[in-house]
Amino acid sequence: MFPALSDAEDWHDLVVTLDDRGLDVLANAATLATGSLRPSSGPRSTISPDELHRLIAHFDICPHVGVGLSTALAEMGALVWANGVVPSDPACVAHLHPPALVASAVTELTVAATNQSMDSWDQSPAGTEIELHLMKWLAELIGISARGSGVMTSGGTASNTLALTLARSRMAARVNVDVLKSGLPREAENWRVVCSDQAHFSVQRACAQLGLGRDAVVAVATTATGSMEVTALDHELERLSQAQQQLLAIVATAGTTDLGAIDPLAPIAERARRHDAWFHVDAAVAGAYLLSEHLAKELAGIEFADSVTVDFHKLWWQPFNASALVVRDAKSFDILRVTSAYLDRGDEVEGMENLVARSLDTSRRFDAAKVVASLRAVGKNQLGKMLEHLVALARYAGTVIESQTRLQLVAPPMSVMCVFDARDATGDDLRRVQQQLLMRGEAVLGRTVIKGRAALKFTFMNPLTTPDDVDRIIRLVVAQLDSL
Ligand SMILES: Cc1ncc(COP(=O)(O)O)c(C=O)c1O
Repeated sequence: MFPALSDAEDWHDLVVTLDDRGLDVLANAATLATGSLRPSSGPRSTISPDELHRLIAHFDICPHVGVGLSTALAEMGALVWANGVVPSDPACVAHLHPPALVASAVTELTVAATNQSMDSWDQSPAGTEIELHLMKWLAELIGISARGSGVMTSGGTASNTLALTLARSRMAARVNVDVLKSGLPREAENWRVVCSDQAHFSVQRACAQLGLGRDAVVAVATTATGSMEVTALDHELERLSQAQQQLLAIVATAGTTDLGAIDPLAPIAERARRHDAWFHVDAAVAGAYLLSEHLAKELAGIEFADSVTVDFHKLWWQPFNASALVVRDAKSFDILRVTSAYLDRGDEVEGMENLVARSLDTSRRFDAAKVVASLRAVGKNQLGKMLEHLVALARYAGTVIESQTRLQLVAPPMSVMCVFDARDATGDDLRRVQQQLLMRGEAVLGRTVIKGRAALKFTFMNPLTTPDDVDRIIRLVVAQLDSL
């Protein structure tokens, strides 16, 4: 039996259709959606966690009778968007959390409205080609190899996990084991993944998920500015071989999360080659340097990688999610393939590539669309300059901090971050400064620990931020410290 509908119920207003009427409905809805956003007056509203919890707990998520789009969107504006953080506010400097490019934000609407799914060609014919084209472009920009390609993932964590999944399979294949079929061989007890002590925690998390365990990760000491010490790497490699442990992969970081340090990629690549280990570069942060001729020089050696993580949702100003794993040889993905009767059948027309065969996901968003639309709209020159501005801003913040008697740099700023602490202040003092400014909605600061030393952090992600804004944020921090 079909349900009886009242005259007021018209599903044409509910489901996106790509006919004249459907496009009108969508355009009106888009106007309502943007109208639900209000100008912000700071990086965060002053609402307390309790108040926010209470407000949202009382929200009837799925009433029997819907409230209608205009009310629902207005409520989202008042309740959710007004109580979020504002990454475009100059005082929102905690994380690698960018304001989105306009071109990307509006492309997201068209992505949702057309809802292609990236697992199979028959769900996204042009989407599949666009993603492959973007991956090829990125592989060429990295200079990885003519056979280089990649796949979009949900983030740097997922890209690093995928890279280590591929590396683990190659290692297992050397003892004639298909690890994805039969599980880990006994030899896996001795497999080790080497990275720096400043590498992102997702390396450990990936090893945990891959059955190697977090203990398989060997952390190499870093310099005072946070990049891997090659002599310490040599020492660890020697220690591993003495202990009859096998090197599965070396993970270098191009742009560490806190200090923005870039490991010496070429010498590390040479060690990986010598030990026949997979060389992965986590360029989630500094991958964007490829946009600037000047900054790209700092990535020398990245072209030797077997795989590279690039996060578009960091310094490429894409809304979440948008990351890529690029590999030296697209054939590396073959080991992931699981044919399925309904999806990746293996008997499609020549040229119909099903990207599910490259991915740890099945259904997947068309995240490449916003990246391609915005790169084309804005262009490399402009994006490169925006990035150079942010790097210059972090350096400027460093000089201002050095000029303050109360503050001191933990390391000279090398990327878009500036990490510092305060003379005569404890870690708890820094925690209070960060929390109080957050609670009052005046500034959203980063807080971290570098080699046991508590610190505050600015991460400049908004190219509209000016040196005056930096002065103001530093004044806020000093005033807060003085008030403790
Ligand atoms: C160097 C590095 N790698 C990986 C990640 C994880 O990225 P995501 O948060 O997109 O999973 C981060 C996050 O900040 C990072 O800084």
